[in-house]
Amino acid sequence: MKRIAILTSGGDAPGMNAAVRAVTRRAIYEGMEVYGINYGYAGLVAGDIRKLDVPDVGDIIQKGGTCLYSARYPEFATEEGQLKGIEQLKKFGIEGLVVIGGDGSYHGALALTKRGFPAVGIPGTIDNDIPGTDYTIGFDTAINTVLDAIDRIRDTATSHVRTFIIEVMGRDAGDIALWAGVAGGADDIIIPEHDFDMAQVAEKIRAGRDRGKKHCLIILAEGVMPGSEFAKQLEVYGDFHARVSVLGHIVRGGSPTARDRVLASKFGSYAVELLKEGRGGLCIGSLNNQLVAADIVETLEQKKHQPDLSLYDLNHQISF
Ligand code: ADP
Ligand code: F6P
Repeated sequence: MKRIAILTSGGDAPGMNAAVRAVTRRAIYEGMEVYGINYGYAGLVAGDIRKLDVPDVGDIIQKGGTCLYSARYPEFATEEGQLKGIEQLKKFGIEGLVVIGGDGSYHGALALTKRGFPAVGIPGTIDNDIPGTDYTIGFDTAINTVLDAIDRIRDTATSHVRTFIIEVMGRDAGDIALWAGVAGGADDIIIPEHDFDMAQVAEKIRAGRDRGKKHCLIILAEGVMPGSEFAKQLEVYGDFHARVSVLGHIVRGGSPTARDRVLASKFGSYAVELLKEGRGGLCIGSLNNQLVAADIVETLEQKKHQPDLSLYDLNHQISF
């Protein structure tokens, strides 16, 4: 392939810029041309496409968000949207597309591939919920942001002898809650992938109080229920001086960690390597620290992401 394009789609994630930079620079290094598509699939359908040169991706490796912008554009799930998108790509003479995004964005890449246009997916989402990779771009930064918040909340929880329910993003996945919870010494981690018993949660808080423990931190994944609802259900078992803190979109922003920048650089460069060889219809991942490329159709249709539930057991064993 001689001319490729790149877009970022769905929820932005820290490190997306590092991936855009890597795709652009590696393609230019290989003598290829790169086009940037603004606003994800919305910009693709609208033809919001521009050529990217070396300086266009300078000074972005350290920035959160995405310099190509992003969008939620449900219309791309329709045949009409996809055909219009392919028409635009052909109009610009583009032969392959790199899609950086989460699960939904991957479905867009899958649709293009099924229609005969080669797309390569790079996992970029704070949720870490993409099959075919151990880690997604943005996850490491997100858990470190949550961790910083947990440490701060711990200070005030201790001072006031309070229970805090800290609600974190993750859509239907509990990875952010699990990792940040273990790192932050949470008393309990509540995730969609594991049952919990509110009576036991209350008992644990009570036992801690009886031992003289001042703070209690519960990390709640948004996919289970809102923090306010959790607090209401906990109240049935007693007054634990509970406060709810919803971290929300704060966790999506900020400068990417070194780990996210390196992962993004590796993924971006590898995506170009594959397209240069004329290989599309793939999604990139890192499994056991090895770069892998798997069939995007097979991965999305047959594999499901599972969080590392050993972290759940670990927390149960060491946090009380
Ligand atoms: P994320 O990629 O972070 O999971 P979304 O679920 O919002 O975020 O998906 C991003 C975009 O991908 C959607 O706005 C839409 O344009 C496209 N998309 C999502 N699902 C599909 C689908 N089934 N077919 C085609 N495109 C899709
Ligand atoms: O997929 C990333 C994510 O931040 C999820 O964790 C969250 O549920 C969702 O996006 C929020 O979406 P929006 O930014 O559209 O409110």
